[in-house]
Amino acid sequence: YIQSAGIQLKKSGRSYLGFCPFHSNTKTPAFNVYPDSQSFHCFGCKASGTIFDFVMRREGLEFRDALEQLARRAGITLQERTQADVQQDQLRTRLLEINQAAAAFFHHILVKSPRGEAARAYIQKRAIQQETIESFQLGYAVDEWSALLSYLTDRKGFEPEEVETAGLAIRRDGGGYYDRFRGRVMFPIRNPKGEIIAFGGRAMGDAQPKYMNSPQTALFDKSRVLYGFDLARDAIRTNEAAVIVEGYVDVIMAHQYGFRNVVAPLGTALTSDHVDLIKRVTQRVYLALDADPAGVRAALKGARTIQEQQDGELVAVTGPQGVISLQRGQSLEIRVIELPEGKDPDEVIQTDPEQWQALVAQARPAMDFYMRALTVDLDLHAAHGKSEAVERLAPLIGQITNPIEHKHYVQQLARLIDSDESVIMRVLPHGPRGQQSNSPARSAAQPARSQRASGQSTPSKPVTTLTGALVQEEHLLCWILTYGSVRDAVLAKLRQDLANFPVAQQVLSETLLDLFERPEHRAIIERWEQEPRDNPAHWAEELDSPLREVVLHVLTRTPPAPQAYRYVNDALECATILQQLQAKRWLTRMTRQADEASDDEERLQAIEYLVQLKEYLGMISAPRRSSTYADLHHLHTA
Ligand code: UTP
Ligand code: MN
Repeated sequence: YIQSAGIQLKKSGRSYLGFCPFHSNTKTPAFNVYPDSQSFHCFGCKASGTIFDFVMRREGLEFRDALEQLARRAGITLQERTQADVQQDQLRTRLLEINQAAAAFFHHILVKSPRGEAARAYIQKRAIQQETIESFQLGYAVDEWSALLSYLTDRKGFEPEEVETAGLAIRRDGGGYYDRFRGRVMFPIRNPKGEIIAFGGRAMGDAQPKYMNSPQTALFDKSRVLYGFDLARDAIRTNEAAVIVEGYVDVIMAHQYGFRNVVAPLGTALTSDHVDLIKRVTQRVYLALDADPAGVRAALKGARTIQEQQDGELVAVTGPQGVISLQRGQSLEIRVIELPEGKDPDEVIQTDPEQWQALVAQARPAMDFYMRALTVDLDLHAAHGKSEAVERLAPLIGQITNPIEHKHYVQQLARLIDSDESVIMRVLPHGPRGQQSNSPARSAAQPARSQRASGQSTPSKPVTTLTGALVQEEHLLCWILTYGSVRDAVLAKLRQDLANFPVAQQVLSETLLDLFERPEHRAIIERWEQEPRDNPAHWAEELDSPLREVVLHVLTRTPPAPQAYRYVNDALECATILQQLQAKRWLTRMTRQADEASDDEERLQAIEYLVQLKEYLGMISAPRRSSTYADLHHLHTA
């Protein structure tokens, strides 16, 4: 944005440098723009702030006007702000203040007050350390009817009605209010910005329920929140993976032992909102599930309701491909961490952090996990056991769209029940689903029924584009594996293309890996970057199935030996198309994020991304380079 406001910037280390528009000394460039924090600072006049502040200052606009201006550039329309919106904002601010005051009160009692003695003993018994108490701001709600209420009303000046609206007090039938949380260890629940939007409270004894959460409020919807996400986000980004556990204490203990990319839903199934949250930061998720087969079967039963509405929410689901089938056509790679029976991460981490690390490292693709978890309780030598195994697994295998993987699991199941593949094929009348439509593309090519039903505004892409995307991925992968020079050329192109888009760089990384969307291709790139070889076919032989088959298939894409300059050019054309698709994926994501943002600040962030993504897309789509491949371009920029 700053550049398009007419300010020339030059890259200088991690930042960009230029002449400051806010003061008149134009002799030395003292104006720094930092892409990582999306902010600027002038060492001459000391002007500083976010890119948005820049817009406001430069144009002398108010927040809302500036937001609208940015939104126009991003090509999205903001709803008019109504009186009701303004009131809603005021309410939210008020509720945040109440939660913050309550958290401080609970925390004080846990850490300092004599009334927190029993809770301190409990916390100690659970081996939660002082530092952890601080970072999660744990607290204690004493076992009295109105300890918090009195504090908030008498000392802090809030109205009892407001405390009720914040979910912290309950109205008595006969009039008056009492504290919702009594005699519980308190876990403040924070949004990604770190603001306290609700609480979870754990009983110290056998009181029921064991955990209690704030009710739904203007701030809090439990199906959208991941506990610990605010503290885990950076680690998720650097680890390129999120680990999902079940409970508050699991998260806390993981963080205490330095495993900081760990989060948990709040006693609910994973929803598509959770997935969206995670997908802002990573494509890979580890699930720490209960290894008990009955539990797994129950979870899978839930999984079959993929496209059904649950409590009015769309449910995102782990499919057999290790992918959460997403209503909006994006996929996530999923691995399953198997816990020792009857143990939760909290216990594993405390007794042996290294074992936890090993369990994460050994996590398997979801389908591999199901193959075993769903059959451990069966006698696979008996006829009944065999047919039960097929009954449980065939529906899952039937959903696998990649023909190679499909075949792999058919073979595996056949081996498992010591039978013939043809027997299993007979139970799978349709073969791999993708083959019928002649399109191996996954969920997005076959939009979930509920997507249509619920009238999501994202138009489904034409199948040709998706097939195109798959083929482009295969081609580029083939070239990269075959010619070392292609890899370097593509990386150089990415760096060059992204050089002027500091904001977009935060989502569009300069790596080969992120050009690829399909999990199997990503896996191949990862392996290849670790151990590139001169002969990819030999290299493939060392891989495990099904990656081996995918590589061998991809290598059949080798184009007829062209002149050297031709294949690099071709590969770059191919990369461009993948860059476009990648940018479009993020455009869709960010448009949605802007649409669904709960406040203007969140909306602004999404819009800042949108502006750059659009400019980036425009830049890489502009016809240049060879005209030989204009047709290819035309096909995919349409
Ligand atoms: P668990 O019952 O597995 O407990 O609930 P836990 O996390 O191991 O907790 P500790 O170790 O006994 O303290 C898992 C999660 O399910 C939700 C909570 O989010 C909890 O962390 N839950 C559980 C509830 O919401 N209500 C309950 O009554 C129980
Ligand atoms: Mn536990």
